[in-house]
Amino acid sequence: MSSNKTIIVSNRLPLQISIKDNSIEVSPSVGGLATGMKSVHKDGNGLWIGWSGIPEEDINPSLLKKVKGRIEEAKCASVELTKQDIEDYYLGFSNRTLWPLFHYFMEYTEFETKEWEAYKAVNEKFAKVVLEHANDGDTVWVHDYQLLLLPELLKNKKPNLTIGFFLHIPFPSYEIFRTFPWRSEVLTGMLGADLIGFHTYDYERHFLSSIKRILRLDVNFNEISYHDRLIKVDSFPMGIDYDKFHNAALEHNNSETEKSDLQKRLDDHKDPKENKKLVLSIDRMDYTKGIPNRIKAFEYFLDNNPQYQEKVRLVMLAVPSRSNVPQYIKLKRETDELVGRVNGKFATVSWTPIWYFYRSLPFDNLIDLYTSADVALITPVRDGMNLVAKEYVATRTNGDGVLILSEMAGAAKEMNEAILINPNSFDDFSNALKKGLEMPLEEQQSRIKILQKRLRRYDVEKWAHEFLSALEATKELKEVIV
Ligand code: UDP
Ligand code: G6P
Repeated sequence: MSSNKTIIVSNRLPLQISIKDNSIEVSPSVGGLATGMKSVHKDGNGLWIGWSGIPEEDINPSLLKKVKGRIEEAKCASVELTKQDIEDYYLGFSNRTLWPLFHYFMEYTEFETKEWEAYKAVNEKFAKVVLEHANDGDTVWVHDYQLLLLPELLKNKKPNLTIGFFLHIPFPSYEIFRTFPWRSEVLTGMLGADLIGFHTYDYERHFLSSIKRILRLDVNFNEISYHDRLIKVDSFPMGIDYDKFHNAALEHNNSETEKSDLQKRLDDHKDPKENKKLVLSIDRMDYTKGIPNRIKAFEYFLDNNPQYQEKVRLVMLAVPSRSNVPQYIKLKRETDELVGRVNGKFATVSWTPIWYFYRSLPFDNLIDLYTSADVALITPVRDGMNLVAKEYVATRTNGDGVLILSEMAGAAKEMNEAILINPNSFDDFSNALKKGLEMPLEEQQSRIKILQKRLRRYDVEKWAHEFLSALEATKELKEVIV
């Protein structure tokens, strides 16, 4: 590989800055993109460009230098967004248009011209910052749906950059995508990249179908001819930092490690003699994650399997996300009500069926949850990949545990040994949960073992390496064309 640098670009940086009482607080970002790419960025010598999480107006001049310092220390550079940008580009076009549309939530999708204009303007802002840092010959790896126009903006200004683009969410079928008013602009924006990557072959296929039918371009297998360029399209299922999760679980299970308060509370519920079990779900509080459905299906399960009342507890961690967008506010309200209803219906003096946290937890507590859960219930109605499913498997150092996973998650394509379900079917749900709770240990172990082997082999480092090698190879393609 060349000695030129690699620049990662995403809307959100891996660290989030907030300001309290005129001092700076730094916290890690949540979400698959940030947690996955963090491991890749940590070991490289490249730069990560993105938004710090606070509006430009909130950084007063006395703090500016400190904020910049903290960002630079983390090998990052920031793109400043105003409150208006955040409203129209981030909360607006990114999360009220693209996110619901690409996840098949047509009924939530708004098409606002003002927000589209803001989206274009903010993509330009990102381009400006990237161009300040990028030299000819450098590689720029652009991530996700907030920056679909960035590859073209960069390619027009600096054709000698090698540009990769990876979409972390699904690419919808042509029938959905064709409804989008700015469909051609977004596709040509993406075509500024030399390599375009998706988590699964299905998303890749949907994208190529839109390219053929909307832009009427020639597609030969997975290569698009566009002006005088050839653009490669491929699928790269994102992995996790397997060793980080596995080793943390080994350390956690070591009898000399002191138990956290959370772990003590979890232990109080787990009693193998009484066949008491914990079922876990972890998601950002997002309507794509199927949270209300999961609670209703759990209620259905308890109604139909009364022998499990007082035996099984669902521990549900929902991490606050995009809480200014109306659909997310509604989802939070609905979730609170449903948890209240189910707990009110079944709770006894010694048992609450759902244990619900609405917050983000530090890494060590995530490990407490993963290692304590007999069953992980990961049931999004639509999800680009879902790294939580993979993290759960990686922490099962004793080889036990059951993963119940929605067919609608990209991760399902690589995790056939999980119990795969249609999250819209309460019967599927309930049967899978019963099967999971009753699965013999040998069967748990044989399934987990195969999954672990695959996840260990294709971890996030391998994923990044494969993407970047394929991107590097596009340089040779360019030389052939010239
Ligand atoms: N996560 C976290 N803090 C929490 C809960 C979850 O950092 O309190 C992480 C989790 O470990 C995972 C990521 O958030 O790496 C969620 O990624 P996933 O692909 O499952 O879903 P996304 O949020 O990207 O839709
Ligand atoms: C998903 C998206 C990411 C996003 C993350 C958290 O993983 O693919 O691009 O960063 O959710 O969402 P947020 O809106 O808080 O950045």
